[in-house]
Amino acid sequence: MTPEQAVPVIAIDGPSASGKGTVAGCVATALDFHYLDSGALYRAIGWVVLEHGVNLEDELTISNIALNLNVDFCGNQVRLGTRDITKAIREERVSLIASRVAALPKVREALLERQRAFRRPPGLVAEGRDMGTVVFPGAALKIFLTASAEERAERRYKQLMEKGMHASMTTLLQDIRERDARDSRRSVAPLQKSADAVLLDTTGLPVKEVVRRVLALYKKAQRAP
Ligand code: C5P
Repeated sequence: MTPEQAVPVIAIDGPSASGKGTVAGCVATALDFHYLDSGALYRAIGWVVLEHGVNLEDELTISNIALNLNVDFCGNQVRLGTRDITKAIREERVSLIASRVAALPKVREALLERQRAFRRPPGLVAEGRDMGTVVFPGAALKIFLTASAEERAERRYKQLMEKGMHASMTTLLQDIRERDARDSRRSVAPLQKSADAVLLDTTGLPVKEVVRRVLALYKKAQRAP
């Protein structure tokens, strides 16, 4: 049995607000797998950088923050030491800083082993931008989720409203386009679909249907020799 068969990984990558988080969470629950929200790690670093006013050019200090990040995932909660940062890391100002720190090679390197440590029996669903390309290149199944920028801005708007957070559609759409451009153009681990990933365009599709398709693809991948 190969390591990938023993502890399989389902890698779900895609741009901001493509529904990766919701879909990955539902797939993990359906299979009783562990779940890694890699974006939350970059967001937690972004939050610390903002909190301490660290200069975004100071790659060494930020990579040290990444190496020593005392972050914990307890159910749906993200904790940094004793502080609950679940809500704070979803703010747009943190989203933008997260995508800036994520472009720093030393920061990505510092997070590599930490992300791989999430791979524990019986399996892992990992979501982000480079799960299938860099972190888990041998994943049993790789999915690239996408949706139009307008639909993604609308989803983010609804999400923020439900959480009682203020948002403007125009700003959200602008932020999404800006982050897409930065995530795709950066030199390290840019957001791109790997050749062996399955492209799933979720524009107009309900979450339930996307989850059903991912589970069907996983079943098919397991049957493949
Ligand atoms: O997925 P989410 O929007 O929460 O991620 C926040 C930011 O972290 C993204 O805009 C992206 O720049 C960065 N990120 C990344 N690689 C990952 C996950 C997130 O660069 N695997």
